[in-house]
Amino acid sequence: MLQLAVLGSGRGSNFQAILHAIDEGRLPSTRVCLVISNNSDAGILALARSAGIPALHVSQKQFPTEEAFTDALLMELQRHGAGLIVLAGYMKRVPPRVVRQYRGRILNIHPALLPKFGGQGMYGHHVHEAVIAARERESGATVHVVDEEYDRGPIVLQRTVAVAPGETPQSLAAKVLEVEHALYVDAIRQYADRVLQHHQT
Ligand code: GRF
Repeated sequence: MLQLAVLGSGRGSNFQAILHAIDEGRLPSTRVCLVISNNSDAGILALARSAGIPALHVSQKQFPTEEAFTDALLMELQRHGAGLIVLAGYMKRVPPRVVRQYRGRILNIHPALLPKFGGQGMYGHHVHEAVIAARERESGATVHVVDEEYDRGPIVLQRTVAVAPGETPQSLAAKVLEVEHALYVDAIRQYADRVLQHHQT
């Protein structure tokens, strides 16, 4: 069984898409063991609670040092048996000690075709405004392995969408978000197949 710990800061639509996939049997041998948000009022926590999944508010703001925050994150991840960490609309950098402990087992989804339009400050509408300003003919979503820098790790899966003439950041965001939801499920299933095969062989 692949145990997912999902980290998010907002409404949690990617998390919801993962839950739907699990409910519909499209992510076999996978379950969500924990949801963590840095925002106590984040929609992702409410979604987790209504699904009966442990939902925790864990934020750097609650701790005197990054070390204490990192200890708390690691303790909760280990206590809930997390095997794969899934960032779903998580706006914070993952502490380096967590990246080291879970090397290769943290995924993130980014609403653009990395390595372009990524990095610090490239989130939400900023991404789509930059894509349109650059007159790109296509954009899309990227699932990548997380390392110590924002949006830099190895790419796992990408899918493109067309940027139409007259596209607005809002219309592009909606198109990309729809692709994200399907892409993340495919990326997690691909990861699960690889990891589970590895354990079985
Ligand atoms: C999505 O665009 C995702 O790419 C980015 O955060 C946004 C919100 O995600 N990482 P969600 O609706 O909270 O899952």
